[in-house]
Amino acid sequence: MGRLDGRIAAVTGAGRGIGAEIAKLLASEGAKVVVNDLGANTDGSGSGKIADDVAKEIRDAGGEAVGHTESISTVAGGQSLLQTAIDNFGGLDILVNNAGILRDKTIFNMEEEDWDAVIAVHLKGHYCTSRPFAKYIRENNRTNCRIINFSSTSGLFGNFGQSNYGAAKAGIAGFTRVLSMELAKYGCTVNTISPAALTRMTIPLREARGQKVEESELEQGGPQHVAPIVTWLASDEAAKVSNQILHAARGLVGIMQQPAILKAFQKSKGVWSQEELDKYVPELVQAKEENDARVKELGKPVVID
Ligand SMILES: NC(=O)c1ccc[n+]([C@@H]2O[C@H](COP(=O)([O-])OP(=O)(O)OC[C@H]3O[C@@H](n4cnc5c(N)ncnc54)[C@H](O)[C@@H]3O)[C@@H](O)[C@H]2O)c1
Repeated sequence: MGRLDGRIAAVTGAGRGIGAEIAKLLASEGAKVVVNDLGANTDGSGSGKIADDVAKEIRDAGGEAVGHTESISTVAGGQSLLQTAIDNFGGLDILVNNAGILRDKTIFNMEEEDWDAVIAVHLKGHYCTSRPFAKYIRENNRTNCRIINFSSTSGLFGNFGQSNYGAAKAGIAGFTRVLSMELAKYGCTVNTISPAALTRMTIPLREARGQKVEESELEQGGPQHVAPIVTWLASDEAAKVSNQILHAARGLVGIMQQPAILKAFQKSKGVWSQEELDKYVPELVQAKEENDARVKELGKPVVID
């Protein structure tokens, strides 16, 4: 008996890295899985059949899986991902939007094609897969579904040299908030993961900073640490958890705060003068800084033995 017996999942970018670990763990909990991956290089160029390899690995281990090698950055690719789940397994319950690429450059060097390529896979990619799935949920009155989206601290906190990626990843958090409202009526939860893991996406960045990644570190910081959090969100236990951002990395699971007004001033009449703003805006900034300090303290992990 697995937690996901009878459930059908599709995981994008699951030919390697975090996505492959998610696909394998979902399958080991009993889900039938569509393993999507274009087989691209980190910059989005190229293609290959690695999705089929992971699907075979799952089947060899006794699970049920099928490969899907189309790009999820087009509406046709997203539609065909859903259709593959329907044709092979009879439906879809769980969509994990994990596929990703990088084109890191500062804004001075960020060409239009670098901007477009990253937005297309991450932000538009979430739309391309989620829209057909949302319509399918509504048209079939399919309840208790899951959408699990992939953001990043790069977008949620900011990271130098990643304006394209950061914008897409922050956009994904906003997309999640809206979808969780629009699909609540169907009992579909929509959550965001902020992962950190040593994969082919991040190991070269570490090594470029002169930090060699040792084999032992892969055990502590590999993509296998993200998969259990995603799998839990896909399970029945998580039926009431929606519109959350969970941070998952190296054995750590945390919840992030969402944007909220921390302090405000209301004028009883008229518009703000510049002199009034000279006085009140610094008070707002101070309230924000005090909150940042409080949140930093609250966010320190409680160690579980
Ligand atoms: N690894 C980290 O520390 C980290 C941190 C923050 C966010 N993330 C996010 O987590 C997700 C997984 O990252 P990862 O580290 O496993 O990366 P990865 O490079 O190991 O895997 C990403 C996979 O996505 C596939 N892909 C790329 N474009 C695609 C497309 N158009 N259609 C289908 N598949 C496509 C690639 O072929 C690749 O196999 C990404 O969204 C990434 O931005 C990762």
